[in-house]
Order: sequence, then structure tokens, then C-alpha cells
Amino acid sequence: MKKHPNALVTGGAGGIGSAVCRILHEKGYRVFVMDVATAEGQALAAGLTGENGKSAAVFVYADLADLQSLHQTATQLTEQYGPFEVLVNNAAIDTMGPLETTTIEEYLLTQRINAESAYILSRSVAPGMKAIGGGQIVSILSIILSGGWENRAPYAMSKGALLGMTRSLARELGPDSIRVNAVSPGAIPTAMERKFWKDDRSELDAAILAKQSLKFRAAPEDVANAVWFLISPESRFITGHELHVNGGWYMG
Ligand SMILES: NC(=O)c1ccc[n+]([C@@H]2O[C@H](COP(=O)([O-])OP(=O)(O)OC[C@H]3O[C@@H](n4cnc5c(N)ncnc54)[C@H](O)[C@@H]3O)[C@@H](O)[C@H]2O)c1
Repeated sequence: MKKHPNALVTGGAGGIGSAVCRILHEKGYRVFVMDVATAEGQALAAGLTGENGKSAAVFVYADLADLQSLHQTATQLTEQYGPFEVLVNNAAIDTMGPLETTTIEEYLLTQRINAESAYILSRSVAPGMKAIGGGQIVSILSIILSGGWENRAPYAMSKGALLGMTRSLARELGPDSIRVNAVSPGAIPTAMERKFWKDDRSELDAAILAKQSLKFRAAPEDVANAVWFLISPESRFITGHELHVNGGWYMG
């Protein structure tokens, strides 16, 4: 393996994404923080310093809704820095609303950002992974696939699409030593959760803890550690798997 293998993390500036970027950096990867949140992404990348104190990470502005540009961006990065060893499809928008009032545009955008971008990026990085003898693709799904919540169909559909992609690509790319897995988080305190409480999050915490078997709130690092396990050689015989990280909220 290269001294600093390349890892691309979408939504890398967000709550879970930044924890994934940090652990990959710790493990010696050159991390590409891909996001639309420029200030947060640049600050994160600048803080992930290398041996000489300079940043060992690269912020990449990319709007995942623009699939053509996304492919071009991933191709350019590969030409400039070499193939990606790791792709983490983490970014998502959390669309909420009843069936009849959610607009077609909102529905389509959710599929594009949450699921189709992951397919496009997998397609963009797979040739490089094949050329270097393997790689890992991990996508972030959601507990929503296990439970079923009202007013969340577009979001749930996008995560279901990612699960289908995970299993199908695991089968297709396994012979090239590319493992494809997924992590399904439960409730993780990040910006995504912020809309569920107003001034005081204690009610939300209590409701979540009542559902969980483990009686503490998770941290983004709990998800990042699971992602790292699926990237690491310790999981070398695992592919096409959905790893639940939900404190025992849903099992099975
Ligand atoms: N937080 C939770 O409780 C929870 C639960 C289940 C699943 N998840 C999943 O975890 C993943 C990370 O979520 P999070 O909680 O860290 O959310 P977050 O909102 O903190 O991070 C999401 C990141 O995605 C980026 N993003 C959004 N749209 C983008 C676009 N068009 N192009 C590029 N980047 C874009 C955002 O700027 C943000 O940095 C998501 O896939 C989410 O569905 C989160």
C-alpha cells in the first residue's frame, strides 16, 4: 500500500463526514473532503496536518446534485493525485414532508444527492481501484430502512437505492478485490438532527434513549469507527454488508 493512500469522503465537512475524515487521516490516508460547505470543509482540511505541519488533506468543492461535473471532478482528481483506495458515500439531504406536498423537484434532488451521486462516484473511481489491485467503498445508509417513518419516503428511497447499489457492486467488483459495504447509523447528534428540537434537546434525547437498548447518546465517531472497520484489513472477508450502528434501537 502507498504511504498515503487516497480517500474521498462526500459530505466530509458534516458531522459524521468530518469524523470519518479525521479517522482516515489518523490512519495515514490523504483525505479529500468533498462538500458544498466550503468554509467548514476548508477549515477541516487545514487542520488535518501532515508530518511537516502542512495540511495532508484536500478540500474539494463539489455539488453532488450535478452528476456530470461530479464525474469530471473525480476524474481530474484521479489524474492529479492517482487512484482512490477508498470512497465513502456519506453526504445526504434529509428531505421530510408528506407524499402529496413534497415537490417532484425535492424528490428528484434527494435521489440525486443521496444515491445517484454515489453511483456516479463509484463508477468514476472503480477503474483506478482495479488498476491498483483493489479498494473499499462504504456508503452511509440509515436506520430509516429498518424502521419506517412517515413523511420520509424520498429519503428512505434514496437509502434503499444505496443498499441495492452496495449489494450489486459488491458482487460485481469483488473479483477485483474491491469491497463494497454500508453503515446504517441510528440517531447521531449532528446538524441533521438539529431540526428535531427547538431550545432544549433533552426531550429528544429522552425519546431516543427510550428506543435504544444502550442508554447513551452516540457520537459521530461511533459511526466513523464502524466505517473504518469496513475499510480496514480486519474486515477483508466482508463485502455487501450493512452494518447497523444504532445502540440497539433496531436489531435484525
Ligand atoms: N445524524 C443522524 O442521526 C443520521 C442518522 C442516519 C443516517 N445518517 C446519515 O449520515 C450521513 C451524514 O449525515 P450527518 O448527520 O453527518 O449530516 P450533516 O448534515 O452534518 O452532514 C451532511 C453533509 O453533506 C453535505 N452535503 C449536503 N448536500 C450536498 C451536496 N449537494 N453536495 C455536496 N455535499 C452536500 C452537507 O454540506 C454536510 O456537510 C448522511 O448520509 C445521513 O443520511 C445520519
